[in-house]
Amino acid sequence: MNTASAPTLSVLDAIRQRHAVRTYTATPLAPGAVQTLLDAAIRAPTAMHEEPWEFLVIRDKDVLSLLGQRAKATLARAGRGAATPEMARLHDAFADPQFDIFYGAPALIVVGSLQTGGFVEADCWLAAENLLLCACSLGLGSCVIGLAVAALNDARTKADLGIPAGFHAVAPIVVGVPAPGAASAPTARKPPHVLLWK
Ligand SMILES: Cc1cc2nc3c(=O)[nH]c(=O)nc-3n(C[C@H](O)[C@H](O)[C@H](O)COP(=O)(O)O)c2cc1C
Repeated sequence: MNTASAPTLSVLDAIRQRHAVRTYTATPLAPGAVQTLLDAAIRAPTAMHEEPWEFLVIRDKDVLSLLGQRAKATLARAGRGAATPEMARLHDAFADPQFDIFYGAPALIVVGSLQTGGFVEADCWLAAENLLLCACSLGLGSCVIGLAVAALNDARTKADLGIPAGFHAVAPIVVGVPAPGAASAPTARKPPHVLLWK
């Protein structure tokens, strides 16, 4: 459901049901839905009430495509001579021209900041989690795309896309309507490992 209002899940239900979605329909993400997601993001707790977060909203297919290509090229370079099997697997995926790191999602929302400071990243991740849960609550799919961080923070890419040079991307998140057949169940978790409970 691509709607800007009428969340259908409680917070607890959204926490329990949220999962990474990696197949999307081409349905554009409506500006109202984007605004609802941003409004949820900025309700996150923030150290010393600094609200350091800034957002990039990218819905343009050509821009998403360019960013995806840049990210793959950056990561393929970094993955050469990869030390771990996982990096080697990713390196192969990046070499595949068909592999879309954004999974065909109609929108990428990037949480980041123009500020530096000890808690800036924490604030951005808290905002990101609010956004992810809000998306789930609205019936939208989402996925954090850590693979896009390096490209988003690359000076040439910033200049080409009009991203302010001082912006530091922290949490890129794709959002959209899950395609039929997309994973619809939450993934498993280990039980909480409590080291101290007095
Ligand atoms: C910091 C971070 C970076 C991530 N980067 C990617 C990514 O680049 N591509 C991707 O498909 N999933 C990415 N994910 C999603 C994780 O793979 C996913 O959250 C994890 O497998 C657990 O699955 P779940 O979200 O469905 O519970 C990322 C998640 C986090 C927290």
